[in-house]
Amino acid sequence: MRASGLILGACLQHVADAVRPGITTLDLDREADTFIRDHGGVPGFLGYHGYHNSLCVSVNQEVVHGIPGPRVIEEGDLVSLDCGVILDGWWSDSGRSVVCGEGSAEATRLVEVTRDALERGIAAAQPGNHIGDIGHAVQTYVESQGFSVVREFVGHGIGRNMHEAPQVPNYGTAGSGNEIKPGLVLAIEPMVNAGGYAVKVLTDGWTVVTVDGKLSCYSEHTVAITADGPEVLTLAPGVRVATA
Ligand code: MF3
Ligand code: CO
Repeated sequence: MRASGLILGACLQHVADAVRPGITTLDLDREADTFIRDHGGVPGFLGYHGYHNSLCVSVNQEVVHGIPGPRVIEEGDLVSLDCGVILDGWWSDSGRSVVCGEGSAEATRLVEVTRDALERGIAAAQPGNHIGDIGHAVQTYVESQGFSVVREFVGHGIGRNMHEAPQVPNYGTAGSGNEIKPGLVLAIEPMVNAGGYAVKVLTDGWTVVTVDGKLSCYSEHTVAITADGPEVLTLAPGVRVATA
């Protein structure tokens, strides 16, 4: 899973660097697909429950599961990227959001808060803590910043399959849920809305958008729980995150 996560971390860095005005969301999907194959991995999303692409690209009020296509990215767009890799049968799942060029103050702050919320969730994923501690850390921080966390989609265990038990909500009560033990690997993925937390799925059956039309942002890492604490498996090369 470390090796799978390394490919994915580098892939998302590559795709995030490619975000610029004029590029289409399908161009970004092709970049991800080629990068993963060139590095010996299998694009995990392709064919998953009938999904036709290797990347999800969710723009502005889109929360997650945006389908790549002819849409052209513009200056100031908040672009959320989500991708999965399978290597020798082992999954990794990760996402990150970037603002294209110069963004609004709100978009820039939403990206920062979402990234920091993920770090706080990861830091709570300590052996001996409980699953609810992760969501509690994410929710209290996000709401203290005046934003909201999506309830209808959650993080998850990951391994031989993308989605395994347990579910990892981005909200909740400290001390609730199963104990976090070494050997468990979790995909922690806060979805943060600038306005209310309500979301709906568009008629394409995939794209999740905010009900109030306000911005949404997303960030995800695959995190292995070790005896020494959480280890992030999907970092971009040279990047560190605080795990304590
Ligand atoms: N990465 C998403 C998750 O965390 C799933 C993407 S759905 C897919 O659950 F169909 F695109 F794979
Ligand atoms: Co996930």
